[in-house]
Amino acid sequence: MAHRRIVADLSGTPKGMSSPGSRPLSQPKGIGPAGVAAGLHVAIIMDGNGRWAKARGLPRTLGHRSGVNALKRTVEAAPDLGVDRLTVFGFSTENWRRPALEVSELMSLLKAYLESDLARLERENVRVKILGRRLDLSPDLQDIITRAETRTADNSRFLLQVAFNYGGRPDIVDAARRLAEEARAGRLDPTTIDEAVFEAHLSTFEGGAPDLIVRTSGERRLSNFLLWETAYAELVFQDVLWPDYGRQHLAAAIEEYRGRERRFGGAEIDDVLATG
Ligand code: FPP
Repeated sequence: MAHRRIVADLSGTPKGMSSPGSRPLSQPKGIGPAGVAAGLHVAIIMDGNGRWAKARGLPRTLGHRSGVNALKRTVEAAPDLGVDRLTVFGFSTENWRRPALEVSELMSLLKAYLESDLARLERENVRVKILGRRLDLSPDLQDIITRAETRTADNSRFLLQVAFNYGGRPDIVDAARRLAEEARAGRLDPTTIDEAVFEAHLSTFEGGAPDLIVRTSGERRLSNFLLWETAYAELVFQDVLWPDYGRQHLAAAIEEYRGRERRFGGAEIDDVLATG
């Protein structure tokens, strides 16, 4: 796997943020010249589709369909708000436990979204990546995913990652398996495995760690999303149900993020020098 450039992300820097230190922050391939500040990476757990539908006496599947419209609004608004990477949780490795009809609707929605929006995303210089265990998906969905990723591979204005059949733990397990296979084949010396090498084997490697995780609907859990990558992410929980989400909600989440102090385990120099 190609190694990504490691750069210091100085943009979107919240109040009081000290140097990122040794934190390996990343830019997706082609976004921003090396060493130059990138935009924000926001990751969203799009929660509340079912409750939105229930409140209207509608089937859950219609909540998910409205969720696609919220996703489109959010993708459109994100670049204006200083975001250049957006990662959304579309289907978790645990979501297979839902009723077959709902699972099949979610599969169809990803397919329909990629089919309907690919030309526009391509034109607007958006790179699309789907994270997660692809081989469990139907062959036609795999084909559409491959087409979307191939056609947008050289796009550099914005990275849209859809986590689909994704789980943080499975992604870590898959990285461990890839490392073990490389070691067994004699291509990797196990003593050289450190955090940077491990991270380079995660499916999220190119997009790097999110600065901000948003979860809608009032729930306050990570639910197996980006477990490794969220080590230093800021968390913002919003009470809005996902189908109602839009530009003003994303703007409010980013405003809250910008008011946070990020120290990455360090301390402000003034605090270190202060006595008493
Ligand atoms: C959680 O809400 C949402 C999901 C499990 C799926 C998210 C999917 C979309 C927003 C559809 C668009 C996605 C793509 C990738 C095209 P929930 O159903 O758990 O809501 P509830 O907690 O209110 O029941």
